[in-house]
Amino acid sequence: MTRGKALRQLRILVLLATASLMAAPEPEQQQADQTIRNPYTSEEDVAAGGRLYRSHCAVCHGIEGEGGRGVDLTTGRFRHGSSDSRLFTTISEGIPGTEMPGIFFNGRQMWQLVAFVRSLSAGRAAEQISGDPAKGEAVYAANGCAVCHQIRGEGGSLGPDLTDIGAIRSMGHLQAAILEPDADVLPQHWMANVTPEGGKQITGLRMNEDTFSIQLRDAAGRLRSFRKTELEAVEVDRSSAMPTFEGRIQGDDFDNLIAYLATLRLGGPNDEQQ
Ligand code: HEC
Ligand code: HEC
Repeated sequence: MTRGKALRQLRILVLLATASLMAAPEPEQQQADQTIRNPYTSEEDVAAGGRLYRSHCAVCHGIEGEGGRGVDLTTGRFRHGSSDSRLFTTISEGIPGTEMPGIFFNGRQMWQLVAFVRSLSAGRAAEQISGDPAKGEAVYAANGCAVCHQIRGEGGSLGPDLTDIGAIRSMGHLQAAILEPDADVLPQHWMANVTPEGGKQITGLRMNEDTFSIQLRDAAGRLRSFRKTELEAVEVDRSSAMPTFEGRIQGDDFDNLIAYLATLRLGGPNDEQQ
């Protein structure tokens, strides 16, 4: 089983566990959620939380919480729980298996962060989805996206799995990913070219690299491992293997495609398996 698949299955398990919790809440859990309220919610607390947020969180979630590499925090919906105590836990412990790190501050500062994160959805309306997801699915098919991307187990594996992409990335990030793939390639998507002694060059997704060895996932999805002493050349490529679709997908087609991607989430309307 690949690591990605293991993680995905773990996530499904977590989702199922959360769903059963919601269906039949443990009395203590319910009580904890109801009784633990943020004790620090004054204007000064929100401002102090905002300073912590700008130095530690904005890099991923955007200065105004609009999202980017991290999720949009302005919609008022939190997949990992929206009670004060759940937000506290999400922020202090992070979300295992994702890029969301845990962070350690004292209790008061943590609550100030929670107060600030809440304030982000108070002012700004949720991003409007103007396109039609059903038409967007056809745009996705017509442009060969599935050659490189999987959705619910179908498609190629050169690019990242998009099954849950609508939940983990903002619409702004999705638009940029399609128009300017080279602009901001995450390290886990870097490619590498290796040339074994006397052999032909092999290109793949760089899964792991240390001083002595490098592991790639090749275009056929096979995991390949090389000892560097056996290689003539190793070249890490930080540009995207994804072509730009700037000028190729435009107008309504583009809006529809983004709307479709935004609906892709585990347990969402497009996930028939849940
Ligand atoms: C390295 C990037 C990164 C940093 C830094 C980061 N986050 Fe996150 N955060 C993420 C990602 C990615 C997710 C979505 C994880 C998932 O569920 O797949 C997330 C999820 C969350 C969630 C849960 C959203 C939900 O729908 O339940 C909250 C709340 C949150 N982050 C707040 C914060 C705060 C506050 C900070 C600063 C202390 C922070 N994050 C720092 C990347 C980051
Ligand atoms: C030739 C292979 C290829 C094709 C075709 C392709 N992609 Fe990609 N895509 C990639 C790779 C590799 C990455 C990761 C590197 C990067 O971030 O650009 C990526 C990244 C992405 C991301 C960002 C994922 C993330 O985790 O943030 C999105 C969204 C995306 N592609 C959507 C699409 C859509 C929609 C299409 C069709 C219009 C498409 N891709 C066509 C290879 C491809």
